[in-house]
Amino acid sequence: MSDPDELLRVEGIRKAFPGVVALDGVDFGLRRGEVHVLLGENGAGKSTLIKTLSGASPPDSGRILVDGTEVRVRSARDAEALGIATIYQEFNLVPDLTVAENIFLGRQPRRFGMVDRGRMEADAEALLKRVGLDVHPRTRVRELGIARLQMVEIAKALSLDARVLIMDEPTAVLTSEEVGRLFTLVRSLRADGVGIVFITHHLDEIAALGDRVTVIRDGRSVGRVPASTPEDELVRLMVGRSIEQQYPRERPERGEPLLAVEGLTRDGVFHDVSFEVRAGEVVGIAGLVGAGRTEVARAVFGADPYDAGTVKVRGTVLRRHDVDAALTAGIGLVPEDRKGQGLVLDASVAENLGLVTLRSASRGGLVDRKGQHAAAGRIAERLNVRMAGLGQHARTLSGGNQQKVVIGKWLLADARVLILDEPTRGIDVGAKVEIYQLVNELTAAGAAVLMISSDLPEVLGMSDRVLVMAQGRIAGELDAAEATQDAVMSLAVGTPTIGTSSETEAPGGH
Ligand SMILES: Nc1ncnc2c1ncn2[C@@H]1O[C@H](COP(=O)(O)OP(=O)(O)OP(=O)(O)O)[C@@H](O)[C@H]1O
Ligand SMILES: [Mg+2]
Repeated sequence: MSDPDELLRVEGIRKAFPGVVALDGVDFGLRRGEVHVLLGENGAGKSTLIKTLSGASPPDSGRILVDGTEVRVRSARDAEALGIATIYQEFNLVPDLTVAENIFLGRQPRRFGMVDRGRMEADAEALLKRVGLDVHPRTRVRELGIARLQMVEIAKALSLDARVLIMDEPTAVLTSEEVGRLFTLVRSLRADGVGIVFITHHLDEIAALGDRVTVIRDGRSVGRVPASTPEDELVRLMVGRSIEQQYPRERPERGEPLLAVEGLTRDGVFHDVSFEVRAGEVVGIAGLVGAGRTEVARAVFGADPYDAGTVKVRGTVLRRHDVDAALTAGIGLVPEDRKGQGLVLDASVAENLGLVTLRSASRGGLVDRKGQHAAAGRIAERLNVRMAGLGQHARTLSGGNQQKVVIGKWLLADARVLILDEPTRGIDVGAKVEIYQLVNELTAAGAAVLMISSDLPEVLGMSDRVLVMAQGRIAGELDAAEATQDAVMSLAVGTPTIGTSSETEAPGGH
């Protein structure tokens, strides 16, 4: 009969959107004091499922039970009253409010009818301490990086005394150190009896943190297995086939240098960065978060200015801080922040895919809309974008499928030099291989690819050469054959050997 340790149970949940059945009969149970992983491909229905539990998007049919009693979760308030807290794939904080205000949004402690700021901030401080976040409660949320935003979300969940904590891909944007901290926190919540629903595409996290796994495929729950299940078995359950080779890099002949960066410097951000990428080559950039990798990529693409140095494409110097010049020269950038920079959320998939091509086509005066639509259809199919159709708005695609559209846009634009910044963040293991195969096709056709990634196995598996950045400088370069995790990490954490910086002892005095 019913499991006395079961906090939450869903039975036969269905949810349809125009053109897609997102959930088509999901069963799932969460126990007290367990971490239950939801595993499934991009678009399988994981986020939709948790939105039915958080009140954000009530199911069309099916039952939700809390402590064995059927409940209705039609709003965030209902979920809150039931002790269900959710941390979404996209955060829900208000940037212009303070950390304390965000934690207690709509529930601020009051005194004499006024918000009791002193108490609110003191309570917030205690919660921040519990999650190990060292920021002042009066800090504006706008000023926080992603890892800290997430900790604020968790503090908020704690303030609600949640018994069920749902986390949608919390580690997708965290560094390994931050992941370690998050795991410690999740384990302590589990020890307190909280039930945690955890979504991730990083299979190694499952055995490390999870207790049980429910596999979702095409909107259905297709299996429940222990978290100790071997990874290849998990993959088979998830994608319905096994993956032979995670990094299928083929190395074509290297051609002429397409991109040459010389002495690029932006004061205080990166210094004297020089490298080249040849036709047919994938050059990886590894390094710790904050090493300056994204900043260099943005400067090369013309999105940000620099103070010294040159960027050349096929020997021609590009005007600095000029995206148009970069586009015309054939540089493309898949940015790390897809929502902010990569997509127009309220435009259709076809429109998003056509953005760059449209731009160059309209400059010529003629737009072949039909041809463009057909090309968009081909690339969406090639990338296996899960959608109701090319007219679906980017906003309603699943997270991983949004990322595929951003990449597809540049594939269509026929970029000769493609810069990928964290290209497979939030992408499922099967779709990753599809993206790697496209990288192979691009380089086989003579394009140059510069790939920034914090996923070390990916950098090592797909790059022909690896540049390692540390503290705004290139700390070293490794050939594919000599690039190992250890070699990369020791360069990434080491202090730069070139130039003398203020790290050396300050002159005495005073
Ligand atoms: N508001 C909406 N309107 C239309 N379709 C939607 C909406 N929300 C979700 N969908 C569709 O439902 C399906 C499931 O999406 P969901 O976001 O649940 O996937 P997911 O498993 O979380 O994937 P990912 O791993 O990429 O985050 C997708 O096909 C998506 O396009
Ligand atoms: Mg999702």
